[in-house]
Amino acid sequence: MYRVVKIEKIKDEAKGIKTFRFHDSHKVEPGQFYMIWLPGVDEFPMSVSYVHDLKGVTVKKIGKGTEKMHGMKEGDKLWIRGPYGHGFKVEKGKALVVGGGSGMATLAPLIEKLKDYEVIIAARNKEELLFTERFKDVKIATDDGSLGYHGFATELAEIMLEENTYDVIYTCGPEPMMAKMVEIAKKRGIKIQASLERFMKCGIGICDSCSINGYRVCVDGPVFSSPLLFEMDELGKEKRRPSGLKVKI
Ligand SMILES: Cc1cc2nc3c(=O)[nH]c(=O)nc-3n(C[C@H](O)[C@H](O)[C@H](O)COP(=O)(O)OP(=O)(O)OC[C@H]3O[C@@H](n4cnc5c(N)ncnc54)[C@H](O)[C@@H]3O)c2cc1C
Ligand code: FES
Repeated sequence: MYRVVKIEKIKDEAKGIKTFRFHDSHKVEPGQFYMIWLPGVDEFPMSVSYVHDLKGVTVKKIGKGTEKMHGMKEGDKLWIRGPYGHGFKVEKGKALVVGGGSGMATLAPLIEKLKDYEVIIAARNKEELLFTERFKDVKIATDDGSLGYHGFATELAEIMLEENTYDVIYTCGPEPMMAKMVEIAKKRGIKIQASLERFMKCGIGICDSCSINGYRVCVDGPVFSSPLLFEMDELGKEKRRPSGLKVKI
């Protein structure tokens, strides 16, 4: 089930975020993810940030597995399985794309498929902004005001939604940001798709560790759409630890 791939290229993208490129012949839809296994260390889900010939994952260093991956060199090997999950559905009309932090890794291949769109790229500060050069005419928001709009992506989104008409919102980022975007979309009666994150063990629908409101993020998602998102009362409020214990977010 695993395939061994050689890392062809590594690129520093932003503070603590690197992209790893490798060849994999499997077809990938924007929003799908690989399970990446580093033998003896960890296995974890990563969205596919480049879906064409030379695939890519864009990894934020946050714990033991991602730290080990950041120490890898071109020519080193990764064990991968997937791609898994349901990706984004391209809707007709004008889109507002709202990406926070490493959530832009998930949204980037979708943006490449959209024709009529505006993008907000947000991060805590300008050093952590991801893919600002990959797309033209992006709107930027930083929590500390070091670049672009001074404040949260959700605040800038509300300003843009006040001034323009959009048919659909796509979002990925920290869960409080996505929960707020879902609330905004519901209030304004706009369709929304969000790529959710939960702790994943199997990645293929067996263990239930990734459950949210009875749905398994690995197979029913990771991209969920409205109106289902409007009914998910665990979104932004509760998640499961690796043990399965439900905790407040
Ligand atoms: C569908 C999906 C797509 C993702 N895409 C990306 C991406 O494109 N780029 C990116 O930087 N990160 C992405 N993540 C998050 C990424 O999986 C975690 O950052 C990674 O697992 C951390 O591993 P670690 O060993 O470094 O951290 P650890 O030290 O093991 O844990 C640190 C934290 O990372 C999270 N985490 C750890 N293991 C898992 C796991 N198996 N499943 C889910 N979360 C975990 C938990 O919140 C945990 O508290 C995605 C997660 C999901 C569910
Ligand atoms: S990770 Fe096992 S069911 Fe989703």
